[in-house]
Amino acid sequence: VRTAILISGRGSNMVALIEAAQAADFPAEIVLVAANLPEAGGLERARQAGIATASVDHRPFGKDREAFERKLDEVLRVNQIELVALAGFMRVLTPWFVTRWQGRLVNIHPSLLPDFRGTHTHARALEAGVAEHGCTVHFVVPELDAGPTILQAKVPVLPGDDEASLSARVLQQEHALYPRALALVASGAARLETSAGVGT
Ligand code: GRF
Repeated sequence: VRTAILISGRGSNMVALIEAAQAADFPAEIVLVAANLPEAGGLERARQAGIATASVDHRPFGKDREAFERKLDEVLRVNQIELVALAGFMRVLTPWFVTRWQGRLVNIHPSLLPDFRGTHTHARALEAGVAEHGCTVHFVVPELDAGPTILQAKVPVLPGDDEASLSARVLQQEHALYPRALALVASGAARLETSAGVGT
């Protein structure tokens, strides 16, 4: 299954996916890493791993999110991408894009969804005083961080934790969880139940 990873930053989840996909029996092949920021550190790491890269800078498109997404969609289609994994991709996607890729678009979110949708999840988890925190890989639907869960991993919140210690504990789980979840989707073992067709 020809798979693209979309990033905005350092790409540590991207590296975990690329490494897992090197196994001969892994059902997804990572053929492209694309970023919305040409300066995203992960692009260089992808190139070092021998993966093709693309950047579609969202900034020249201003407020026209769909125009940016049409460009991104074109890059994905030119590369014959079948499955898209968001990994620290910091753009909210419009219903147009999400519907087009429905069932073939997944994301990793650093919380136990449905808790702590949106940003600053670790700080909010600490503030809320929860005993457990973690990460979720989910199908992307138009509503932000609301799609069905594929897999979750939990970590304890420990006395004395701050945002850095807690996010590091969660990130370690992310790197193990995302490859497992992507394999489930690529193999067809996990599916988004929907009556809506995918884009053509
Ligand atoms: C991860 O915590 C991911 O869950 C969140 O953004 C972070 C990206 O980190 N959405 P990286 O770029 O994969 O290192």
